[in-house]
Amino acid sequence: MEEEVVTGGSSAQVLALRIAKESSIPFIKLDLRKFPDGERYIRVLGDVDGKTVNVVQSMYQQPDDYLLEYFLIVDNLKDIGASKVRGIVPYFAYARQDGRFNPGEAFSLKTVVNLIESVGTDEVLTIDLHLHRIESISRLFKIPSKNITVVPDLARYVRQNLKLKNPAVIGPDEEAEQWAKVAAEELDAEYDVLEKQRVSSREDEKYGKVEIKPRTLSLKGRDVLIVDDIISTGGTIVKAMDVLKKSGVSKIYVITCHPVLVENALMKIYEAGAEMVIGTDSIPSPISYVSVAPTIARAIRR
Ligand code: R5P
Repeated sequence: MEEEVVTGGSSAQVLALRIAKESSIPFIKLDLRKFPDGERYIRVLGDVDGKTVNVVQSMYQQPDDYLLEYFLIVDNLKDIGASKVRGIVPYFAYARQDGRFNPGEAFSLKTVVNLIESVGTDEVLTIDLHLHRIESISRLFKIPSKNITVVPDLARYVRQNLKLKNPAVIGPDEEAEQWAKVAAEELDAEYDVLEKQRVSSREDEKYGKVEIKPRTLSLKGRDVLIVDDIISTGGTIVKAMDVLKKSGVSKIYVITCHPVLVENALMKIYEAGAEMVIGTDSIPSPISYVSVAPTIARAIRR
């Protein structure tokens, strides 16, 4: 079998090392620096000739910078003899710009995908990609691609460390149902999503109002675990918490795959009354209690 190594860009060097350890694949270090004018310097400090190289690079907190660095790394690896490059992108930037929503707008996800392929990536592996309008990752890439989920590991952390009473798992919107279902299975709990419901059949403004509510479950007195793929500004979670509090829930916990956490998101969620917010290290953050390394290592080994 062809020899494999793992390496990591600036966003994910520690994570790459953890993935190497978890998968028992040798780690190769990169010398990554910047010249005084801001241009990048890249050197591979190991032998990659004829090997499959797993390049770990998450695309936050400087998505454009990390993307360019990824392109330089991969092109260089191919030039110096790597036989294959597997791009491991735990957090995939630009996934939310997955279409042209207004005339003249860039379909940025398509551009990023094209560039990742054209630079010489042979395979792509990512975690809980924000695929809401595109059916599957294989519709995006021409090269082999895998989208794996870390939600079972997040839910296992909750099961092992927190004692939820009569728990229910809630997706803050219909798009999050896929993750709510997976977390619920791990916790052996019920799940539901919040959705807009017309609270009266009357059409006038006052009574024809729409409210956000759990689709079916009664949540009064229960501990609730909200699950979403990304927490960015925290707005979605805070809005969901408002609805859940009105439904009379007891304690609220939150799990997320990708803690982007901009605009004081964490503060807003804790101020809204969350007991604990748990994320992964797909993006290093103060809530990165769960590592994506075991999930990725399992996928590489397969
Ligand atoms: C939306 O479709 C995503 O699944 C997340 O709910 C969203 O990106 C979260 O963003 P924010 O934290 O800014 O509300």
